[in-house]
Amino acid sequence: MILITGGAGFIGSHMCVALAEAGHRFLILDNFSNSARDVVGRIGALVGRAPLVAEGDVRDEALLDRLLAEHPVEAAIHFAGLKAVGESVREPLRYYRENIDGALALVAALGRAGVRRLVFSSSATVYAPTPAMPLDETAPLRATNPYGWTKLMIEQMLHDVARSDPAWSIACLRYFNPVGAHESGTLGEEPQGVPNNLAPYVAQVAAGQRPRLQVFGGDYPTPDGTGVRDYIHVMDLAEGHIAALRHLAGHAGVHTFNLGTGRGTSVLDLVRSFEAASGRPVPYDIVPRREGDVGECWADPARARDVLGWTARRGIAQMCADAWRWQQHRATLPS
Ligand code: NAD
Ligand code: UD1
Repeated sequence: MILITGGAGFIGSHMCVALAEAGHRFLILDNFSNSARDVVGRIGALVGRAPLVAEGDVRDEALLDRLLAEHPVEAAIHFAGLKAVGESVREPLRYYRENIDGALALVAALGRAGVRRLVFSSSATVYAPTPAMPLDETAPLRATNPYGWTKLMIEQMLHDVARSDPAWSIACLRYFNPVGAHESGTLGEEPQGVPNNLAPYVAQVAAGQRPRLQVFGGDYPTPDGTGVRDYIHVMDLAEGHIAALRHLAGHAGVHTFNLGTGRGTSVLDLVRSFEAASGRPVPYDIVPRREGDVGECWADPARARDVLGWTARRGIAQMCADAWRWQQHRATLPS
């Protein structure tokens, strides 16, 4: 059984489906601070049985000890945490506290229970800003905001833990830009309030919930002047975790992988793909650059391909089609 912290969230909920498809049982631990309780029923409908769920905080070590004593957990995937960059700049202590304490509590409890296999959700935000693309795992590291620092600090902590006890096998997966939704359209991203990220914002403009997209910067040194990112379908991302779990079964130490497609897509490319997928216009204005943004960011995913045997299979058209199916389904759910 796999313990999946933050399993009710955007990536975690898709992970549950990928785990079930790969024949794994799973136990969700989530405090529902950034997810809806009804997602559990929607996961259950996709996997054909009610998921095991513990409602609580990953920082609650007594709860973790109890769960690990009661269930035959072989490995954990750690998604739970706070992830909004701007909020982390305004509330750094909350981010350091929640993200670092969560990881420390989980690793300590896993160690006590003799479970030494862990997959950690890291991020491409750990790479120092650079115009040199693509980024491979050896690119220089430096965070530019407290959220990013929590990811780097947790990666460092995991290296130190694995060095202290060679029985640990740990994967740090650096995600590029996860987008899309389950192809059924019944799971997807549910940002609260105004979305910070491009894909959910575009979906809401296409749906008529917001009037226009603001494109942050039209003067980057990119083919159309707008920012270029490596968008990856959330189900491809989840399948990358399955490949990482398989790898960890035979390999001790810390293993770091980029999870991206290796392809860059500009803001305007994504807008056009979403218009095609939805059949709706996405009106936009080009406005000044967003502070802290880089022009281009995309992965060299060769290591994950060569070592894990994993590559992303779904393209931008499918990411937009699935996100649009979810956008429409979401409008039918009770709020
Ligand atoms: P999300 O907010 O949708 O999911 C996180 C889940 O964890 C939510 O269900 C939330 O309720 C839960 N949670 C938060 N704090 C908790 C706590 N203290 N105890 C128990 N549960 C808690 O986020 P997501 O997009 O699914 O991201 C998952 C992980 O991947 C995060 O660690 C995030 O930093 C990382 N990541 C995400 C992205 C992205 O663009 N979505 C990119 C890179 C890395
Ligand atoms: C964001 C996070 C980053 C995280 C990454 C992975 C921020 C500041 N950074 O980065 O830490 O690792 O997601 O998911 O949140 N854009 C617009 N208009 C919008 C929103 C975005 O033009 O309303 C542009 C941005 O300038 C950028 C692109 O769209 O060029 C993607 O933006 P976004 O979805 O926020 O992702 P990142 O900036 O890559």
